[in-house]
Amino acid sequence: MTFDQRDAEFIADPYPAFAELRSAGEVHLHEGLGVAVAVSHAACSAVLRHRSLGRIWSDVAPVEAFQSFNLLHRNSLLENEPPVHGRLRRLVAAAFGRGHVERLRPWVAELADRLADELVAKISDQGSADLLAHVAGPLPVEVIAELLGVPASDRFLLQPWSNAIVKMYEYGLPDDRRALAERAATEFVAYLRDLIALRRKNPGDDLVSDLVAVTDTDGARLTEDELVATAVLLLMAGHEATVNVIGNGVLALLRNRSQWELLLSDPSLMSSAVEELIRFDSPLQLFQRTATAPVEIAGFTVEPGQKIAALLGAAARDPLVFEAPDTLDITRSPNPHLGFGAGIHYCLGAPLARIEVEAALSALTRKLPGAVLAAEPRRRAEFVIRGLHELPLSTSGAG
Ligand code: HEM
Repeated sequence: MTFDQRDAEFIADPYPAFAELRSAGEVHLHEGLGVAVAVSHAACSAVLRHRSLGRIWSDVAPVEAFQSFNLLHRNSLLENEPPVHGRLRRLVAAAFGRGHVERLRPWVAELADRLADELVAKISDQGSADLLAHVAGPLPVEVIAELLGVPASDRFLLQPWSNAIVKMYEYGLPDDRRALAERAATEFVAYLRDLIALRRKNPGDDLVSDLVAVTDTDGARLTEDELVATAVLLLMAGHEATVNVIGNGVLALLRNRSQWELLLSDPSLMSSAVEELIRFDSPLQLFQRTATAPVEIAGFTVEPGQKIAALLGAAARDPLVFEAPDTLDITRSPNPHLGFGAGIHYCLGAPLARIEVEAALSALTRKLPGAVLAAEPRRRAEFVIRGLHELPLSTSGAG
């Protein structure tokens, strides 16, 4: 019993297949993916927290052909384990903690309002317009650019780089797409080296300036390669997931109209709505770990060197943890979803992500209360990063 991650029907709605797997056991060997997969909430949580299960990165081969991509990963906080992870996380969290989230809060709200106004204007001109192109796509990339201090004139470069690089996380990527990912990584690394040099000379109130300056208790700083890798990680981690929470989330609300109406009538539900949207249709479906010692998860033994994945989308619909798990309920509380991960790699950007999704929902409910689907949304074909290409909206005029 398993699923085919390339099957369009599975991609359209993976949740029935996850439910079937979960009722047959908490961990299964998935031959197509070549890894064991944890499908219950308890087993996924154990995979993410276990100290003998790590994100063990091995260079993409041939090494000469993927130098920039490998440089980004070797130096990334997300791809390292203790003790390197602890040092990087302390430094990056310290730079992040210098008030950036609060600095950005009003700016993000204004940006979301402006983008929603543009969407509304397009709808009134053309009858319909795409949420992804006008709000969900540009918002997170603008926010990360502002966080990092990327000048406005260069921001158009970021999204294509991020989209190309992040494809490397999918299974069975063809060689030409891998080559495109490497080219994007090379261009991005060169761009960031210039930006870092500029901020070393002229520090601003941006995160890159703080990352350059931040020191550990023993005076250690991030190396230049670590700085570059951190900036790329923030763009990719901070961008792809947030785009898809907004896209998947608005789709879920419009398909469950009573929940959209409830949010319109009670904006104080905004923050519990954000958590429920992350749970209900997770933008990140799978995170993989490698065993460094024999590990038992829900009776399944993972041998050293063997891989096991936490299927976050399956954990999010576990009836042992969530009552009526297939029902979208924006009042759900508590909501112990694993959408931001767990353990030492728990999402560093969760407070910023929450602000972004809340700002987008707030702008849309105020400015487009009568939003309806103008056509069937177009879904991306990938499994690991779950999202839409396009979500065409129009307005019923009511609301
Ligand atoms: C709703 C949007 C987001 C979701 C659902 C999300 C989810 C996640 C998850 C599941 C992980 C853990 C990965 C693992 O355990 O292997 C993670 C890690 C991370 N996220 Fe997010 N994320 C979001 C937005 C952001 C944003 C906006 C930023 C930064 C501005 C960010 C930065 C990071 C970083 C740096 C890590 C690595 C932490 C570490 O390895 O210690 N994320 N995120």
